[in-house]
Amino acid sequence: MKIIALATAALLTLPAGSALAQQMQMQMKMQKPADKAATVSAAKVDAVIKAGLPAFPAPPEVWQPRLTPDETMKICAATHNDPPKAQLAAIEKAEKAKIEYPADNNYLGDWKKGEALAQSGYGLRFTDYPARRANGGNCYACHQLTKAEVSYGTIGPSLLGYGKLRDFKDSEVKVAYEKIYDSHVTFPCSLMPRFGANKVLSIEQIKDLVALLMSKDSPVNQ
Ligand code: HEC
Repeated sequence: MKIIALATAALLTLPAGSALAQQMQMQMKMQKPADKAATVSAAKVDAVIKAGLPAFPAPPEVWQPRLTPDETMKICAATHNDPPKAQLAAIEKAEKAKIEYPADNNYLGDWKKGEALAQSGYGLRFTDYPARRANGGNCYACHQLTKAEVSYGTIGPSLLGYGKLRDFKDSEVKVAYEKIYDSHVTFPCSLMPRFGANKVLSIEQIKDLVALLMSKDSPVNQ
């Protein structure tokens, strides 16, 4: 089964024409290659990234390890985000194995800290070295989360009412944790960063974001 088929199956469970269904359709369109035959010389691109260009300065030394794609990124790039079934399963398995869970099995942190993290785009940019504070999650760059924040991106589905829509179920708390820790487990080659697996956010920070999504008194659920 291809990823598009997987996403289509997920779409069928959503109300037709719902905002989420439309957003998923958009994401599938974005991830579907327009021209599979187009080829790029990986070596050429790597050389330019390493050396920099006037309009694109060479990244700082600390970035170098991040320029080497991991196994999952290699598969996603080689298959234009549309891996065949066996590779899909391999990604899901490898990414799932990367998830570290809170030692006390408590997934809910402090939603106020979560909201600050969702707002913060600090971290990993050229200008963020040496690090002056903890990384943010930058969730608003891709998601609507609260009614109060009107400036948000739409690459990801709206998360407004996320917990309420899931009846604040305990099982959904864990699902949200796993999604933020490693988005590729449920959606291989997702455009969403793997915040925990790539050590962008800590377990405590992810718990604060889970609380933002899943707490009854969080602004996400008002
Ligand atoms: C670069 C864009 C981007 C960023 C930044 C981003 N996401 Fe996402 N997110 C997506 C996309 C695209 C999807 C849909 C595909 C998927 O499920 O992976 C998604 C899906 C999700 C889902 C699943 C939604 C559902 O209906 O099942 C959750 C939960 C989520 N994101 C939470 C977050 C949180 C919390 C943050 C901040 C730490 C965040 N995202 C940052 C792009 C992003």
